Amino acid sequence: MEKTKFTLDEKDMPTQWYNIQADLPEPLPPLRHPQTMEPTILPPPLFCDEINKQEFSTERWIDIPEEVQAIYRTWRPTVLHRAHRLEKALDTPAKIFYKYEGTSQAGSHKPNTAVAQAYYNKKAGIKRLTTETGAGQWGSALSMGCMFFGIELKVYMVKVSFYQKPYRRILMETWGATCVPSPSPDTKTGQAVLARDPECTGSLGMAISEAVEDAATHDDTKYSLGSVLNHVLLHQTVIGLETKKVMMEQADTYPDIIVGCIGGGSNFAGMYLPFVKDKIDGTKPDLRIINVEPTSCPTVTKGLYAWDYGDVAGLAPIALMYTLGHDFIPPPVHAGGLRYHGMAPIICHLHKLGFVEARAVPQLATFEAGITFARSEGIVSAPETNHAIRVTIDEALKCKETGEAKTILLAHSGHGHFDMAAYEAYLSGKLKDYDYPEEKVKEALAHLPQVPQS
Ligand SMILES: Cc1ncc(COP(=O)(O)O)c(C=O)c1O
Repeated sequence: MEKTKFTLDEKDMPTQWYNIQADLPEPLPPLRHPQTMEPTILPPPLFCDEINKQEFSTERWIDIPEEVQAIYRTWRPTVLHRAHRLEKALDTPAKIFYKYEGTSQAGSHKPNTAVAQAYYNKKAGIKRLTTETGAGQWGSALSMGCMFFGIELKVYMVKVSFYQKPYRRILMETWGATCVPSPSPDTKTGQAVLARDPECTGSLGMAISEAVEDAATHDDTKYSLGSVLNHVLLHQTVIGLETKKVMMEQADTYPDIIVGCIGGGSNFAGMYLPFVKDKIDGTKPDLRIINVEPTSCPTVTKGLYAWDYGDVAGLAPIALMYTLGHDFIPPPVHAGGLRYHGMAPIICHLHKLGFVEARAVPQLATFEAGITFARSEGIVSAPETNHAIRVTIDEALKCKETGEAKTILLAHSGHGHFDMAAYEAYLSGKLKDYDYPEEKVKEALAHLPQVPQS
């Protein structure tokens, strides 16, 4: 009998997060203040002290508070699966493994940081948080995190997703949060956008501006971000730490290729940071790590490596990252969580240094892959995750051609149970591909902030 599920005991779960900043061969360029453009720690009013500290820490290991571990234990450790049925369907000699984060209560990896962020804010005496959400996964996760610690939450949800996914809003409300479509009339940023374009479908950058403005104008409120920043990636390393341990101890293997999707980069970096360390220190020089993004929002594959704001209005910190320009408005494709103009600076830095690679895939091919996965492994995956599944299948098919039995590890970020409208559009032939045109990238890049060299 071939083993299918590999899982750690609760008592063997990680008790510390791994901080890649301790092991980077060149330090990460610090964020810049959005107004002064000086190297800065995050503007203090936005985040609580402990989160600011983690953002800039170079300590290799950071303790996971016991209160956070106790909530992690309600769904963690998550299972590492061997995809025997997918391998058979593809007739590939490749060994495919996937770590499935869809078993959290909110359905994705997002609670790994939501619970931690809610905990630190509660400890700092914060009564109210604001945030943005694209697909609704992050908004739901933080609603759950805030519910556990008794914090009020307001979520600005990108308008196109708000209407594509009404059940995500209801899920947030069930956990006690308030959710409004962005751009909204509730902030100055939203009012200005609506005055220019009442039909605007919104973007993550715009929703971030609204949430940041709300937090900055209310004394009792802090802002919370679900991806991109270092502390978010840090909290997500619980995925990679569990995977590495269970894979090496129970499956007796180490990946040749790791594949995941990147929106702001948190789920995939959370998976690969504990592995990329082995590539940096030279113990696993041949390990390949493939970041997958949509051709409709090709941040790393077509964007510029430049200083840019994290949001549309220029209220969030400026980061050195691959960017499509902060005023980029993505086409309304279904992978709402992958429609962000920028990317986690840690991922961009590792890409620039040559430790990880990136690939863009079109929407239709991702749904085709998602259907193959659903019809072999049974799991109906989030449209975001389908991007990673596409490349996993492509790499497994390459193994079929070459006869190589490579070990491929897929970071499976979540289920697609709230994405039935997207599946229906695909199954009824209504879904379209969209390549983001090169001229539009050039246009958006004309508005980058002019950051002085320091
Ligand atoms: C299921 C799922 N996967 C991936 C992502 C992309 O985000 P990140 O790159 O931060 O993991 C999202 C974002 O909403 C998501 O919901």
